[in-house]
Amino acid sequence: WATMTDDVDAILRLKRERNAVILAHNYMTPEIYHGVADIVGDSLALAREATTVDADVIVLAGVHFMAETAKLLNPAKTVLIPDINSGCSLAESITPEDVRALRAKHPGVPVVTYVNTSAAVKAESDICCTSGNAVHIIESLGVPEVIMIPDQYLAANIAAQTGVQMITHPGSCIVHERFTPADIAQMRIDYPGVEVLAHPECPRPVVEAADFAGSTAQMQDYVEKRKPLKVALMTECSMSDNVAQSNPDVDFVRPCNLCPYMKLNTLAKIRHSLETMTTQVEIDPEVAERARAAVDRMLQVGP
Ligand code: 13P
Ligand code: SF4
Repeated sequence: WATMTDDVDAILRLKRERNAVILAHNYMTPEIYHGVADIVGDSLALAREATTVDADVIVLAGVHFMAETAKLLNPAKTVLIPDINSGCSLAESITPEDVRALRAKHPGVPVVTYVNTSAAVKAESDICCTSGNAVHIIESLGVPEVIMIPDQYLAANIAAQTGVQMITHPGSCIVHERFTPADIAQMRIDYPGVEVLAHPECPRPVVEAADFAGSTAQMQDYVEKRKPLKVALMTECSMSDNVAQSNPDVDFVRPCNLCPYMKLNTLAKIRHSLETMTTQVEIDPEVAERARAAVDRMLQVGP
């Protein structure tokens, strides 16, 4: 505990000295999420907030693609990532060459890239989306078919909601692909009345068996507005810990899988990152310009 308090005190001091803010994803552990973060949210909120940050330094407590997105939107600011190895199975599943091959095979079909991708992959796409705005982005295109990459399950879930045909890629999230409809059936027996919320990176049968599907922020919103007596969040472990702290009246069933990439973020690494100003996220300017255009288009479509 003494070390944790030391780290928190040091981080709060370093933030003032460096004129830094900490943007933290909803999957950060409570001591980061509640202890040192200035802004918390889902991928969409973090991208949006990154456009309004009034600081010299942004520490992105999350994964690498989130730090890249923050840098794309703030090319003049220093963006720090506490652990450079915090990747994402979705981002790692696809290369710019894969996107070019899909485009060549399906000429004229718009390419929608999930934000869980590298800047180099975003640079090959027409527009980005997150789990929080995927339906809205797809509908805004007004076309019968899109190339929606790299998450095969998100594509299937959004296809079901929008009726738009999806050409996709065999990427998946190592956290969400492990949930099964049988997990949900068992939970409904063990915890009668439980409301089950699933992230749309879960396989289609899991989302079908759930009561609601949405991004991490949308799940949090659901809990805060509807105050279910019992709830299960089919997503990363820290989500329930964080949402439970601000909703003590809700009983959380905790079917959680850890994201090993997100969990590379610790207070000690955030402190070290601010002390040494490492690791700074850099993106090739030519790639950045094209990737920024895809992210900007997403933000312009809103909401
Ligand atoms: P959200 O945009 O819903 O926060 O999801 C990000 C992510 O990595 C989910 O696994
Ligand atoms: Fe990527 Fe899944 Fe981890 Fe999110 S939870 S960062 S999608 S591996």
